[in-house]
Amino acid sequence: MNFQLTEEQILIQKTAREFADTELAPGVVERDEKKIWPKEGVAKMAKLGFMGMMTDPTWNGEGMDTISYTIAMEEISRVDASAGVVMSVNNSLVCYLLENFASNHIKEKYLKSLASGEKLGAFSLSEPQSGSDASNMKTTAKKEGDHYLISGIKNWVTNGINSDYVILFAVTEKEVGHKGISCFIVEKGWDGFEIGKPENKLGIRASDTCELYLDNVKVSVDNLIGNEGGGFKIALATLDGGRIGIAAQALGIAQASLNASVSYSKERIQFGKPISINQAIQFKIADMAMEIESARLLVRQAAWKKDQKQNYSHVASMAKVYASEVAIRASTQCVQIHGGFGYMREAGVERLMRDAKITQIYEGTSEIQRVVIARSILK
Ligand code: CAA
Repeated sequence: MNFQLTEEQILIQKTAREFADTELAPGVVERDEKKIWPKEGVAKMAKLGFMGMMTDPTWNGEGMDTISYTIAMEEISRVDASAGVVMSVNNSLVCYLLENFASNHIKEKYLKSLASGEKLGAFSLSEPQSGSDASNMKTTAKKEGDHYLISGIKNWVTNGINSDYVILFAVTEKEVGHKGISCFIVEKGWDGFEIGKPENKLGIRASDTCELYLDNVKVSVDNLIGNEGGGFKIALATLDGGRIGIAAQALGIAQASLNASVSYSKERIQFGKPISINQAIQFKIADMAMEIESARLLVRQAAWKKDQKQNYSHVASMAKVYASEVAIRASTQCVQIHGGFGYMREAGVERLMRDAKITQIYEGTSEIQRVVIARSILK
C-alpha cells in the first residue's frame, strides 16, 4: 500500500492550489453575495486542463487519473465551491458519460469541445416530482422517423444557464419503469428549448442552477446516447463517479474550515491570550483534522478503485456521505471558533457552512447514499 502521491499528482495539487489562491480567491465573497458566475475562473480552468481531466487525449482531455481529479477538485473547492461544482459537473457527469457511453460521432461532435473546456456541459436528470426517486420522470421523447420530440420540465440543473450542451434524460417508453428511460445530448438554442431563471440558493450561489423547459424539441436519433431504454443505468453509473467529485468538493470545504480556524484562533486574543491555547478550541481543531484525514482517505480510495476498474459504487457513496458530513461539522465549528466575526458575511466563513450543505443533497442525498451502501452490504 502506498499513500504517497505521484510526482504528477503533486504537480496538479500545486497548480490547482496556486490557481485557486491567486485567481479564484479574489472576489469570491462578492461573487457568492451577488450570484456572479465565475466566468474568468472557468475560462482559466479550461486553459489549465481542469475541465476534462480524466478524458482521454483522443477526445481533447488530459487523460489523468481520478485521484488527480479529486486533488484538483479539493483545492478549487477549498477556495470556491461554486467553481468546484462547475468543474465537477463538466468532468465527472458530462465528459465521463460521453466518453463511456456515447457514439464516436457524438464524441467527435461534442466531447472534444467539452473536454477542452471550449464548451460547457450540464447534466439534467431531476424533475419536480423525481429527485431521489430518479426514474419517476415525466419528460417524454417521442420517436418520429429520424428524430425524437422531447417535451417536459427538468429542474435543479447545475450549469443550466451557462452550458452549451445538456445531457438530458427522458421517457421513450411508458409503463416499463426505468427500462423506458433514454439519454440524449441536446444543444441550447434549439427550437422549443427554454432556460429558466437562476435559482436563489442557500449556498454555491455563484454557480448557476435553473429549470429547463422543453416543448417538442427536435433531437436527431444520432443524439441518443447508448440504447433506447438504457438511459437510467447510464445515469446511475455516471453518478457513481460524480459522487467522488462531490466528496472531494466537500473535502475542500472542510479543509478551508480547518485552515481558517487554525489561523484565526492563533490571532484572536481573549483574556490576554490567543484563543488557540484553550483546550476547548484545540479539541475542535483536533477533531476537524482527524475527520478530514479520514474523509480524504475514503475519497482517494474510491478514486483509486475507480481507476483500478474495481466495483466502487458503494465506496463512492461512503466517501460522499462521510466527506459531506465532515464538511458540515468542520464549517459549523469554524464559524463557532470565529464567534461574532464568523457570523458576519465579510469573514467569509459562514459561506463555508452554506456551501457545505448542498454536498449532502445533490448527486444523491446522504439518505440515498446510505441506501446504496446498505444494498451493497446486504445483497
Ligand atoms: N450503475 C449501473 N446500474 C445500476 C446502478 C449503478 N450504480 N445501480 C443500480 N443499477 C441498475 C440496477 O441493477 C437496475 O437494473 P435491472 O432492473 O436491470 O436489475 C436498475 O439500475 C435500477 O436500479 P434500482 O432498482 O436499484 O433503482 P431504484 O429506482 O431503486 O433507484 C437509487 C436506485 C439508488 C435510489 C437511484 O434512484 C438514485 O441514485 N437516486 C438518486 C438520484 C440522484 O443522485 N440524483 C442526482 C441528480 S444529478 C445532480 O445532482 C447533478 C448536479 O446538479 C450537481
